[in-house]
Amino acid sequence: MTLDAGELERLYAYPDSDRPWVRTNFVSTLDGAATGQDGKSGTLGGDTDTQVFALLRSLADVIVVGAGTARDEGYEDFGVDTELRMRLGLSPVPTMVLVSRSLGIPPALLRPGIVVVTTADAEPDAVATLRETIEVIAAGQGDIDWTAVLAEFAERGWRRVLCEGGPSLHGELVRLDLVDELCLTIAPVLAGGHAPRIAHGHDAAHHAMTFGHAIEGDGGLLTRWVRARP
Ligand SMILES: NC(=O)c1ccc[n+]([C@@H]2O[C@H](COP(=O)([O-])OP(=O)(O)OC[C@H]3O[C@@H](n4cnc5c(N)ncnc54)[C@H](OP(=O)(O)O)[C@@H]3O)[C@@H](O)[C@H]2O)c1
Repeated sequence: MTLDAGELERLYAYPDSDRPWVRTNFVSTLDGAATGQDGKSGTLGGDTDTQVFALLRSLADVIVVGAGTARDEGYEDFGVDTELRMRLGLSPVPTMVLVSRSLGIPPALLRPGIVVVTTADAEPDAVATLRETIEVIAAGQGDIDWTAVLAEFAERGWRRVLCEGGPSLHGELVRLDLVDELCLTIAPVLAGGHAPRIAHGHDAAHHAMTFGHAIEGDGGLLTRWVRARP
């Protein structure tokens, strides 16, 4: 099923915000699995999830993804709706940001234009090598300083932030209460097994979210939830 493109654009429009708005996008089974039998998330989503996934990319200034997901899912070049981006006054393509502490990023993923976010105490030689071809934002000792990273995004005019995971990165953003919005596809599947959830980390949190919308698609639901901030 293909959903009406104009209606989806309205439903998923970023709010006017004077700071970077962090939207995360995930798919989960009914019993909370973030991966299918093949250990990847792509097998969980249907055509409508694919349609919304592509739209969310087309609406973003920057796409942030953990190196684990980029490695596991084999992130490659992706297409965006250039007509839509031009109409909205966005850059021709969103910037892809890879998040890594180890900087063990496969060379195939390090295309020109990509930005790597890491810690300020990351291995200096690895950072220097990366900087020969791509940009590196280094912030925080031991852990990435996400407040500093988002301030850097704001400096660059990147206010529409889309994080595509994975669960470790998402867990960190949840812990820091930096997730403004979750777009969650609920796939009509029971998975059992030991699959990860869409967010995990050391510390549990309790951040209330308000309902945005739910759209039926492929027998499941495409939902949107917004952080209830005081
Ligand atoms: N259901 C969904 O919608 C969905 C979405 C995305 C991914 N997934 C699935 O999730 C699985 C991957 O899970 P994951 O938790 O390993 O994914 P992840 O968060 O993308 O990857 C973890 C790795 O990313 C880097 N990273 C993440 N957060 C970081 C932080 N705060 N600071 C520094 N580095 C950070 C580190 O890379 P280095 O090791 O390079 O330091 C870390 O080892 C895959 O099976 C993927 O298919 C599911």
